Amino acid sequence: MHIHHLLENNSVANKFVAQLRDTDIQGDRMRFRRNIERLGEILGYELSKNFKYEDKAVTTPLGTASVDLPAEEIVLCSILRAGLPLHNGLLNYFDDAENSFISAYRHHPDNDEKFEILVEYLASPSLMNKTLILADPMLATGRSFVNVMKALESMGTPANIHLVSVIGAREGIEYIASEFPENTHLWIATIDEELNDRGYIVPGLGDAGDLCFGTK
Ligand code: URA
Repeated sequence: MHIHHLLENNSVANKFVAQLRDTDIQGDRMRFRRNIERLGEILGYELSKNFKYEDKAVTTPLGTASVDLPAEEIVLCSILRAGLPLHNGLLNYFDDAENSFISAYRHHPDNDEKFEILVEYLASPSLMNKTLILADPMLATGRSFVNVMKALESMGTPANIHLVSVIGAREGIEYIASEFPENTHLWIATIDEELNDRGYIVPGLGDAGDLCFGTK
């Protein structure tokens, strides 16, 4: 897997991630969602440099301009719920993409810290030979990305897979690297070293879905 780690280089993206983490700021749900969306835009822009491009002619009022335009059929898929603002950010740039939505949630069968990831809802076009961009802001254990990808198998095999996330735990990144095809790309804003025994990223930011939508 190719890992593209956005905050390895300083940029304004640092500020958006800092505001997502900060308990004094993250209670402002509109700002929280907008910061995830802004990171979706930045990660999408970085990711777009990886597409294949083809030369097209565009007619201007004064002549003809030659431009390189993306030559891939893109399907943008987000994992509900917290994937939605990331999806919006990516869709701001990939505005003619097809879209798919899939749910994944943690179920604790014994009411302790052990959980399984349940995937229940899927609405997707065919993925056959297309470029799949799969978005989830929190890459904790990696099991959501892996289970979701298994559920998407019935939609056909994509030619390219890009995973987009905001905060990832080292352990989860290693797990997805072992489960996804080798040529998969991961576009991630920042990487934290730890998961706690409930599978939350430390220091992380808390529960991204609850912070986005106040569903707690
Ligand atoms: N999902 C979240 O929202 N936060 C975590 O830390 C892990 C998974």
